[in-house]
Amino acid sequence: MLVLGIETSCDETAISVVKNGWRVLSNVVASSLKLHKKYGGVVPEIATRSHVESINHVLAKSLKQAKVKLKDIDLIAVVYGPGLVGALLIGLSLAKSLSLALGVPLVGVNHVQAHLYANFLSKKHPQFPFVGLVVSGGHTNLYYVKGFRQWKLLGRTRDDAAGEAYDKVAKLLKLGYPGGPVIEKRASLGNADKIRFPRSYLEKGSLDFSFSGLKTAVLYYVQDNGRKNLKDIAASFQEAVIEVLAQKSKAACRVSKVKQFVVGGGVIANRRLQQALVSQLTEDDVKVYLPEFRFCQDNAAMVAGLGYQLYQQGVVSGLGLEVEPNLKVHRRKSNGC
Ligand code: KG4
Ligand code: ZN
Repeated sequence: MLVLGIETSCDETAISVVKNGWRVLSNVVASSLKLHKKYGGVVPEIATRSHVESINHVLAKSLKQAKVKLKDIDLIAVVYGPGLVGALLIGLSLAKSLSLALGVPLVGVNHVQAHLYANFLSKKHPQFPFVGLVVSGGHTNLYYVKGFRQWKLLGRTRDDAAGEAYDKVAKLLKLGYPGGPVIEKRASLGNADKIRFPRSYLEKGSLDFSFSGLKTAVLYYVQDNGRKNLKDIAASFQEAVIEVLAQKSKAACRVSKVKQFVVGGGVIANRRLQQALVSQLTEDDVKVYLPEFRFCQDNAAMVAGLGYQLYQQGVVSGLGLEVEPNLKVHRRKSNGC
């Protein structure tokens, strides 16, 4: 079965063709990132306009790369939330038009769930149940996942997401946007023990996160000491984020009594985070699944793949599907999609 996936929730216009849920025939991503850089973050109107301008080219390129024609497509999968309302609307409009014109079903996909699905885009994939961590610019969520439609929220950030903390700290260090890659690079040259920034573990047993205090601590440090030792500030900040992510992930696997841990989202592109998760969790004999680098950041292969699985389980959205900018996976209990 050939699934066309469409992702336009933020600044990436992405379209992929995926066969039978895992074989990626094409993965085309056009990013408007450089247009947002001078504003220090994504400007929704610019992102939306850029989707309009590029989506038809991205579609044509994706079909060409996959060596298929539109008439070969069996199912359309599209992200309908969470994300920027205008941006989501562009992808959903294309998805509905194609579904109607081709006479094929449409399945709406949650962007956050799709990030974990990135680990299923290969032959060696996780088995249920597992604990999943989504670390992106908008989310830092821990889930207990029993099936593609059975998710239970174990913990989430109470303020900034991990990626958001990287972006805000990079801004105050005047390192540009997005913050993750630049901070990682500086941090690799610095001493992570130089400054003891706070680690926020919250109340005993909590699997929630909080990164805003850390961001403020970096701000105060810079106000008092300046930005001279950027590498050490970056390394010390990064270590504080990663230590908490790794410790809470380990605790989540322990309380859930699972031996598989799956990660997704832009922040997992970070090599130091990957190392920390693997070293912490393998101490408990937990196997860690990390997505391929090209599937860490926003892409549509993960959307097509999850759309396929949902469709196999009887999910069909229909043309009445609407965008849901604040779409949740959770509500601290198991739910569908
Ligand atoms: O998943 P994603 O592409 O978009 C969202 O769904 O948010 O994640 C983007 C986030 C940004 O906050 C960016 O700074 C962060 O991922 N990021 C990183 C790295 N690469 C991207 N954070 C830490 N280290 C990285 N190497
Ligand atoms: Zn994302």
